[in-house]
Amino acid sequence: MNPFKYGQVVQDKDFCQRPDLIKRLSEVITKGQNVYVQGERRIGKTSLICECVRQLKKHRLIYIDLLEVKETDDFIKRIISAIVSMEQKGGMVERILKKLAHIRPTISFDPLTGMPTIGFDETIAFSQDSIHGVLDLIYSYHTKQRSIVVVFDEFQDILNLKDAKEILAVLRSKVQFHSDVSYIFSGSVRNKMVEIFTYPDSPFYKSATSLDVGPLDQDNFRAFLKKKFNKGKREIAPEVWEKIFEISAHVPGDIQQFCDALWDITSEKEHITLEHLPKALESIFAHEFKGYETTLKIISGQQLKVLTGLARMGGKAPTSAKFAKGLGGIATSSIQKAIERLMDLKIVFYFEDEYRFTNPFFRAWLLYKNL
Ligand SMILES: Nc1ncnc2c1ncn2[C@@H]1O[C@H](COP(=O)(O)OP(=O)(O)O)[C@@H](O)[C@H]1O
Ligand SMILES: [Mg+2]
Repeated sequence: MNPFKYGQVVQDKDFCQRPDLIKRLSEVITKGQNVYVQGERRIGKTSLICECVRQLKKHRLIYIDLLEVKETDDFIKRIISAIVSMEQKGGMVERILKKLAHIRPTISFDPLTGMPTIGFDETIAFSQDSIHGVLDLIYSYHTKQRSIVVVFDEFQDILNLKDAKEILAVLRSKVQFHSDVSYIFSGSVRNKMVEIFTYPDSPFYKSATSLDVGPLDQDNFRAFLKKKFNKGKREIAPEVWEKIFEISAHVPGDIQQFCDALWDITSEKEHITLEHLPKALESIFAHEFKGYETTLKIISGQQLKVLTGLARMGGKAPTSAKFAKGLGGIATSSIQKAIERLMDLKIVFYFEDEYRFTNPFFRAWLLYKNL
């Protein structure tokens, strides 16, 4: 069976240890402090947080995912669902139903998996005013013996809400009041997280310490992955590792996806060499090309030119004369505009003095297609 996992939270044996980050986060949690965790997509933030709480054993996690949240009503429902999900793990779903009786929730169990899903009375729409209530409900679970850890994941998406500022203010006041509960705010869109936590006019200004999650230590991660290949009786040539990390832009989730593809195209006792890489990439492209093509449909010819330029020449100096010349002499102001659009579309992002592809395999595909 393919041992590589990506596109999901990894924990326990599937989690390659990151002792320094786990140690720092554990300290924050056990002291009941608040922290905002930032790092790129698929770098391992959610896994780090879940694994850390798992290792702490005496803490319980309330995990609220705010990815693409757009309405206040939905925001509140996600918090309630997170509480239900925690109760389910403790086998106490009835208890939560009692506590929430006034909003008439219904719980149904998926016949296949037994997982509960919560249904809400359609006539009830939650507004800002309900935030106090649901956060107090969370707090009612907090005891000295079993501390609660509240995680708001993809927290930057709270800015999508129309009344974001007011909601942030209410949230902040509650978080401050629950001084012995650790709140973790995790986010992958750096500039928005910075806006929330470091702008003086933001309600969350100076409300939490920060924790940066970068790539995994390369030697550690490589040993972790190598073991998986070896268990499946596959050997990897040393120079292949360098390439895997480079093509995947050192992003753990993408590295695991690449290993997954390499595994799939090889069999037991095979020695994996550089020659296997194109085939592994092709198998990734075969899964993903529809998404790539959709992306191409929504950008202009000029933007595509700049994008392929970034793929070929890298994103360190796209407004330099050299880069413009490489594109056949496009005005630098047009390049800048195209890049802004590509960033809005989240096709590229800017980090550490460089424009980078959100999906490194998309970059590889552009080069492969010679677009
Ligand atoms: N510590 C780790 N050990 C092994 N793989 C990891 C680790 N952290 C992240 N990954 C890989 O990255 C993927 C995405 O991790 P996730 O925690 O969801 O990232 P994020 O929340 O930053 O987007 C995982 O499915 C896994 O493939
Ligand atoms: Mg995540």
